Amino acid sequence: MASSDVRLVTKSGGERWWENAVLYQIYIRSYQDSNGDGVGDLEGIRQRLDHLKGASGALDVDAIWITPFYPSPMADFGYDVSDYCAVHPLFGDLDAFDRLLADCHARGLQLIVDFVPNHCSIEHPWFVESRSSRDNPKRDWFIWRDPAPDGGPPNNWKAMFGGDSWEFDPATGQYYYHHFLASQPDLNWRNPDVRAAMYDAMHFWLDRGVDGLRVDAVQTLTENEALTDNPPAEGPTVKAKAGSEFASQQHINDIDWPDNIEIVRQFRDVTDDYPGALLLGEVYLLEHERMVRYYASGRGFDLCFNFLLVNMPWNADAFRNAIEPLHDLLGDEFRIANVLSSHDESRIATRFGPERARAAAILLFGLRGMTTVYQGDELGLPDGVIPNDRLQDPFALAGHGLSRDPARTPMQWDLGQPYAGFSTAEPWLPLATDHPGMDVAGQRDDPASMLAFYRDLIAFKRVSEPLREGSQRFIDDLPEGVLGILREAGNQRAVIFVHMGESRCEIAGWPGRIAIASDRNREGETVTGILSLEPNDAVVMALS
Ligand code: NOJ
Repeated sequence: MASSDVRLVTKSGGERWWENAVLYQIYIRSYQDSNGDGVGDLEGIRQRLDHLKGASGALDVDAIWITPFYPSPMADFGYDVSDYCAVHPLFGDLDAFDRLLADCHARGLQLIVDFVPNHCSIEHPWFVESRSSRDNPKRDWFIWRDPAPDGGPPNNWKAMFGGDSWEFDPATGQYYYHHFLASQPDLNWRNPDVRAAMYDAMHFWLDRGVDGLRVDAVQTLTENEALTDNPPAEGPTVKAKAGSEFASQQHINDIDWPDNIEIVRQFRDVTDDYPGALLLGEVYLLEHERMVRYYASGRGFDLCFNFLLVNMPWNADAFRNAIEPLHDLLGDEFRIANVLSSHDESRIATRFGPERARAAAILLFGLRGMTTVYQGDELGLPDGVIPNDRLQDPFALAGHGLSRDPARTPMQWDLGQPYAGFSTAEPWLPLATDHPGMDVAGQRDDPASMLAFYRDLIAFKRVSEPLREGSQRFIDDLPEGVLGILREAGNQRAVIFVHMGESRCEIAGWPGRIAIASDRNREGETVTGILSLEPNDAVVMALS
């Protein structure tokens, strides 16, 4: 059956299937290697679909998002694309992609691909042409500027991955602009031919039948054409963990430039032809008022990630402040994609500690909107410890001291097999841990496991009207350190309590039945008067 036929069938969830969906993020290099080269691939994902959907013991997620698998010299592990409409041989080919898509759809699983519009690779033929001469027709596809009078870069902008945002090209005597690595030149989105070519790339994947696009680094699409210098930093306007030079500036001229919104509207125009296709924005802005503009009042992204969540300490007030104002800004009509971890961030069990991993998962699933699960969190995997001689992340290799490798270690399928069943060859990054039980095989049939816990959370979210559709209100006057959220749908109510404080506490006035608890022995418990919680306990209760 052609994938487009399957797609029609799988839209039974309605055009807004994503609103309350559980999206599972697959970092392709580290999911499953099917051809023994130590790197994950598309066929590997297909072979592991039973873990995700349509088999006994599956997590039963709604959708997967696969990180870039396009041709690329891999300077940023695929986020440096050299052909938007093909598959890197490392990951397979278009046939392998079509097989994967068809198998996903046959299971009722949606598939989202990564779209990287801000920049491509220095090896993309567009850039090769562009840099070949000043009068090449593709010169204006990138952002070229003359040197400053002293011969230095055109202005003071700093690249997120370190150093200046400008790279001098001796052959033509000009600088080109790059927000990330020098090998990731920014495309010039003011050029209509660039837009047309990139919209063609969107059509290419949507025509193949994908169910949506996760759009990379949207906040950096355009810049102030006047190239005004950035002033020194005052507040947290951008990713707090960026390199120090980058963090030393207020990025008012190179990030979140107003012209970005018009481009996002055009993304929407493209996806309008594909009912139900999700436009999911990676808009990395920590100020919510700025981020919500990318919903463009219903003509922009369907969902954006709430990245404040990945920057929060284990503190109830901090989390409330990271969620409530945004929720108020979005109102009833719009949803958010909730996220606690990714291939760019520390895994949950390391960032908060293993003793808090279940409570963190309850919070994640308790929030209104889409729930994103990063591969490995369902096992409680910690970050890996990567020896210096095996560092891979260009960000770390550039000397910033921060590495994203620890969260990118291979998925652990079966510790009884070489390389935990991820590959038959030495994987590109070492395993995170060989601790017994830190694998799918060890957890799948154990009702006390983290995997069973995630499976139950996903099942509960699927059937709970309050968790799916309910309004969301934070509860005041709770004991110190307790985060409480009331979810209401019609006459059904659920409450989520997460105890982030330091001593045992008692909560009065919320009678009901515990549906899911970090302490699984408490599930089914009826609460009539007082609910007591130990530090790091969390519960979801159906209220009487
Ligand atoms: C965000 C991606 O998640 C990250 O991995 C990548 O390095 C940057 N965008 C640049 O594409």
